[in-house]
Amino acid sequence: KEQKQAYSEQITTLLQQHQAVMLAHYYVEPELQDLALASGGMVGDSLEMARFGARHPAQTLLVAGVKFMGETANILSPEKTILMPDMQATCSLDLGCPADEFTAFCNQYPERTVVVYANTSAEVKARADWVVTSSIAIEIVSFLHAQGKKIIWGPDRHLGEYIQNLTGADMVLWQGSCMVHNEFKGQELALMKARYPHAKVLVHPESPSAVVALADVVGSTSQLLQAAINDTADTFIVATDQGILHEMTKQAPAKTFLAAPTAGNGATCKSCAFCPWMAMNGLESCIDALNHQEQHRVQLPAALSQQACLSIRRMLEFSS
Ligand code: 13P
Ligand code: SF4
Repeated sequence: KEQKQAYSEQITTLLQQHQAVMLAHYYVEPELQDLALASGGMVGDSLEMARFGARHPAQTLLVAGVKFMGETANILSPEKTILMPDMQATCSLDLGCPADEFTAFCNQYPERTVVVYANTSAEVKARADWVVTSSIAIEIVSFLHAQGKKIIWGPDRHLGEYIQNLTGADMVLWQGSCMVHNEFKGQELALMKARYPHAKVLVHPESPSAVVALADVVGSTSQLLQAAINDTADTFIVATDQGILHEMTKQAPAKTFLAAPTAGNGATCKSCAFCPWMAMNGLESCIDALNHQEQHRVQLPAALSQQACLSIRRMLEFSS
């Protein structure tokens, strides 16, 4: 604990020295979330991270999250220095949607509007007309559907199915999934719900449809956090990466938060539902990133960045 405290103090000093600000996602380890907040940065969902990074005046951003979050910050602010603690921290959705295969898929449906989830590479975003995050996907697809547009959706099939069911939009889906959320099980969740009949169920829409069907609230990490704070229930079953439980417990200390089951007999699992790539962000790697910036710098080719920027900006302008 003392060692962690010393590392946190060192990072705060380095952030000040480099006039840098830290952005953290809710899935990174609690010490990093607390540090980002305490040092004048932020913790949030992926849309909030994109907005914050683009608007903040700091010249250097330390992004504790996964690759697509660092790339988005670089695309939106090419003049800033974007650092990531671990350059290998990727995402199963990004890995499961190679740009060349996705482009060939899109080319089969030239008349359709291409909408991609933020959890993708810059190359995939460059092929898209729109980028969306889970917090804004329904609004944007509803808007496009109302204009009579047919859609290609990628890469998360569960989120795609959920949006398709809610909006009635005509969508062709890429068949990707998140290896963390895909593990939640509807049958086991039903058993757990029976054991905690007064609990509210909070579900991230990357979860399978059988899990989404049992939800009281479906939403992005920030939307689930808000529901946990505002809902009068005293117990919540949470189907998303367990990193979010840290901020939920901090913001609503009197409430009980239980991780949704990923297997077994409906029992909560302490070590399940942790994103292995988010876990690659650590205190020591933050120090390394600030001390050895060239090895931790996200810098996309300008032409790719400019092309990907169009679809990301469309989302930000829609949501502002
Ligand atoms: P949010 O936009 O809800 O934070 O989701 C990001 C993510 O990677 C979920 O797995
Ligand atoms: Fe990607 Fe899933 Fe990890 Fe989110 S939790 S970063 S979608 S692998």
